Amino acid sequence: VSNWAAPRARLLAWYDAHARDLPWRRTRDPYAIWVSEIMLQQTRVETVIPYYERFLARFPSAHALADAPLDDVLAHWSGLGYYRRARLLHEGARAVASEHAGQVPREAHLRRALPGVGRYTAGAIGSIAFDLPEPIVDGNVARVLARVLALEAPLGTRDAERALWQAAAEWAEGERPGALNQALMELGARVCLPQRPRCAECPLAEHCQARADGRAESLPVVPPKKPPKPVNLVALAAFDDAGRVWLQRGEENLFGGLWSLPSVEGSTRASVVELAPTTALEGVLSRRAVGELKHVLTHRVLSVRVYVQRAASGVRSAALKPVALSEIGRLGTATLTRKLLALAGGGS
Ligand code: ADE
Repeated sequence: VSNWAAPRARLLAWYDAHARDLPWRRTRDPYAIWVSEIMLQQTRVETVIPYYERFLARFPSAHALADAPLDDVLAHWSGLGYYRRARLLHEGARAVASEHAGQVPREAHLRRALPGVGRYTAGAIGSIAFDLPEPIVDGNVARVLARVLALEAPLGTRDAERALWQAAAEWAEGERPGALNQALMELGARVCLPQRPRCAECPLAEHCQARADGRAESLPVVPPKKPPKPVNLVALAAFDDAGRVWLQRGEENLFGGLWSLPSVEGSTRASVVELAPTTALEGVLSRRAVGELKHVLTHRVLSVRVYVQRAASGVRSAALKPVALSEIGRLGTATLTRKLLALAGGGS
């Protein structure tokens, strides 16, 4: 077992001098820390800040979140992406409300049992909110520790995961584990950069094996990413006589349960016709293509052709609901839906 006492003290001193003043660093409320950590997964700090503030203002406690309708929660997540996170956070809050009297549990095994709370989130809440010596490894921490250790195993492999969580557990032992974990993240975000790490500014430079070996830039070994898959879609903006547009709960995988325009894979007029049975939007009066746009998700690049139709009034469908354009902001909609509506000549 390595002795991390000296580099640990240096890292904490650096963090105390350089930590950014972020809204979730001004609280020790486990619920607020939880919200921030879920939002920060896959999303940049600057993007998260206004969402975090609006979310906490509207849902200030686990009870408040648990009592809110899912559509309201999704509306406050609208634009952040990865909506599955919001649904799981909502489920998690319900579990905290019903099983833990609204208090996020201090015991690690109880936190881990909450929907949407894995090893990372449990460790972040445990260390930051409760100051328990629990490790966390995210992308930034992995890069820092992999360099300190001169880890050869490619990131994402079992060997690398085991070595990184083991090292993180050793670093978390000692005073101020919450500050220490955030310091590792902060160092990865601002100094120990993927390309051109700023070793001259790094409090761990003297303790870094990769740097000693002249390999700071070439470690960690990052497995190649799969390129995003191109997908063609047609989407339908059906307006009724009252000027409302018909929205459908999105595909789990693409829109995570958000309200979106009905869409189907394909790129031709025939594809739109295929939409009719899935949407039950009959009584079509006219239908025309109004344009096409590209939308980039993490694993896909979507090319979406948009058709507009006027639906006869009185259309009934369980899968769809008509929504006034002025009401759309109150529903959870994906960025893509708002872009498509703009193209279709409605919405913002
Ligand atoms: N990324 C994930 N968690 C974070 C935190 N607590 N502070 C800054 N960036 C983060």
